[in-house]
Amino acid sequence: MNYIGSKYKLLSFLERNIIETVGDIKSCVFCDLFAGTGAVGRYFKTLVKQIIANDIENYSYVLNRNYIGNHLPIEYQEKLDELNNLSGKKGFIYNNYCLGSGSGRQYFSDNNGQKIDAIRLKIKEWYDKKYISDNEYFFFLASLLESADKVANTASVYGAFLKQLKKTAQKNIELEPALFQINGHDHEVYSEDANNLIQKIQGDILYLDPPYNERQYGANYHILNTIALYDNFIPKGKTGLRDYTKSVYCKKAMVLKSFDNLVKNAKFKYIFLSYNNEGLMSAEDIKNTMTKYGKYSLATTNYQRFKADSAREYSADKTTEYLHILKKNDA
Ligand SMILES: C[S@@+](CC[C@H](N)C(=O)[O-])C[C@H]1O[C@@H](n2cnc3c(N)ncnc32)[C@H](O)[C@@H]1O
Repeated sequence: MNYIGSKYKLLSFLERNIIETVGDIKSCVFCDLFAGTGAVGRYFKTLVKQIIANDIENYSYVLNRNYIGNHLPIEYQEKLDELNNLSGKKGFIYNNYCLGSGSGRQYFSDNNGQKIDAIRLKIKEWYDKKYISDNEYFFFLASLLESADKVANTASVYGAFLKQLKKTAQKNIELEPALFQINGHDHEVYSEDANNLIQKIQGDILYLDPPYNERQYGANYHILNTIALYDNFIPKGKTGLRDYTKSVYCKKAMVLKSFDNLVKNAKFKYIFLSYNNEGLMSAEDIKNTMTKYGKYSLATTNYQRFKADSAREYSADKTTEYLHILKKNDA
């Protein structure tokens, strides 16, 4: 998934620095507290003893509940085929986010909107009838979120839809299996505010990847939350926004204090914070904060990212990624 702040391309940089700092990580509990797509937890899932994954957004919980929480094989093919062969239904997505319903919005083609509704309703029906387990429920729902995202008619995020159906949005949705790593360990997945959860968990390695700027994830990915929750609400305005959680990490006035509290309350020996050079907190602020709680160091890398610019076209963009490292005194 093309996700704002995804660390997919930085995984080897993270691994190298984490192993250099911690040493052998095989027996470690690793927490990915702002997990997003789950890219980091997925990478470390088979390298450590246990992953704790968390993110405040519902779609992210679904992805992580599948990619991290699921670790034993699932027989999925027959049911996946059944979902793929369903006829479309005029449900919440079609009625509110497709042009043919008269909604005035075009996040999906009419055909794909109806297919998403049909698949989402069937997953719910199976789950309600106990025909599928929790593990299967999240597996199929994660498959739907990612497959729907591939045919979304947006430049990259869901803050706006495109007037014309772009090429990938014209393709018929194909439900692809959200395959996860099989391994023998149990993992934990949460959907809580990071500053609350930190008071209830403990471990060895805490990886922090909070938002860098004011762009709220709940607004930028609202359609994914709507598919995940599939609840009833009145979509607002031109983009059909739902109410969303506003993160303190996207607020200049609150971010540093929240970060300080997070580090203070963390019961983890090692803390790694990913942040870039354009973030709301300066590198100096972060260093001063972390230094209060132990031994601080810094690693950096240049990184070519892609983002949607104001003309809604992709543009290459260079940025410096920082990895702030803390060995905590009291943990
Ligand atoms: C930079 S992204 C993480 C990207 C992730 N590492 C990846 O590779 O996909 C930041 C994430 O923090 C989450 N988030 C923002 N505020 C939060 C909070 N207060 N508690 C928990 N998660 C939060 C957002 O939903 C978003 O997924």
